[in-house]
Amino acid sequence: MNGKSPPVARSVAGLRRQVALWRAAGERVGLVPTMGALHAGHLALVAAARGQCERVVASIFVNPKQFGPREDFATYPRPEADDLAKLAGAAADLVFIPPVGEMYPDGFATTISTGGPSQGLCGAQRPGHFDGVATVVAKLLIQATANAAYFGEKDYQQLMVVRRMARDLDLPVEIVGVPTVREPDGLALSSRNVYLSAEERRVAPHLNRAMREAAAEIGRGAAPGPVLERAVASLTGLGFAIEYLELRDGVTLTRLFELSRPARLLAAAHLGHTRLIDNIPVART
Ligand code: PAJ
Repeated sequence: MNGKSPPVARSVAGLRRQVALWRAAGERVGLVPTMGALHAGHLALVAAARGQCERVVASIFVNPKQFGPREDFATYPRPEADDLAKLAGAAADLVFIPPVGEMYPDGFATTISTGGPSQGLCGAQRPGHFDGVATVVAKLLIQATANAAYFGEKDYQQLMVVRRMARDLDLPVEIVGVPTVREPDGLALSSRNVYLSAEERRVAPHLNRAMREAAAEIGRGAAPGPVLERAVASLTGLGFAIEYLELRDGVTLTRLFELSRPARLLAAAHLGHTRLIDNIPVART
C-alpha cells in the first residue's frame, strides 16, 4: 500500500487546472466516477484506468439528483478518510470531491432527459434516477476533460445509459466498461451490502446463482418466459422480493422474448430493506 493520500481537488477550477497540465504534457487521463464507500469493485475501475492511462482521477460525490425521496441519500455511507487511503493504495493521482454547492449551485436548472436504455428495469422503479445519473456524469465528464471514463458492468443499465448519452451529446471521451467484481460466493460487491443482516448475507448469493442457472438454460435453447418465472418463484421462496428479472438486448436493452442476439439477464431484488441488483451475459451454447 502506498500510504500517502493523493491530492484532493474540491473545486472544478482546481480539477481542471491539474488535468490541463497533464493533457498539455501529452498524458492520457482516465476518470473513475464514484459515490465513495469504496470497495474492491471501485478499485477494479481504478486499476483498469491505471492500465490504460498515465493519470487517473477518481471522483467521490454522493449525487442527490439520482436518489428518490424515499431512498438512502441522507444515510449513504461517506467514509472519506478510508476512501482516500484506498485510493492511495490504488495509486490514483487526484481525487475530486466537490461539495454539493459546487456541482449544483443556487439556481441550477438543467437536467439531461434520458431515453432508450434508461427505459424499464431500474428506470421503471426509480423515476428520474437515470436523468440524475446522466446529468451528474455529463458534468463530471465535461469538468474532468478526461480521455476515458470507467464504469462497472455491475450497474449495466447505467453503463448503457452513459454510453448512449456520451455518444448522443458528442462528448469527446471513451466510455470503458469493467466486469463486475464479486465475493467468492458470487454476490456482486456493492456499497449497500453493509446493510444486509448476517442471515440476509447468507441468502444474498442465491440471486446470482439463480441467474446463472436461468442464463444457462436459456443459452441451451429453453424459452425464457417459463425459465424466468421458475427462477422468480424459487427466489421468492428464499425470501427475495423480486422487482424484475428480465432478458434484454445486450446493448439497447430492449426486451427479448427469445435469445436472438447477444443478451443480458438483469435483476433487481429486495432482501429485507436492502435492494440488490445483478446482471450477467446470456450466450447461446
Ligand atoms: P457507485 O455506486 O459508487 O459506483 C461507482 C462505479 O463503481 C460504477 O461505475 C459502478 O458500476 C462501479 N461498481 C460498483 N460495484 C462494482 C462491482 N462490484 N464491480 C465492478 N464495478 C462496480 O454508480 C455510481 O456510483 C453513480 O451512479 C455514479 C456513476 C458515480 C454517478 O453518480
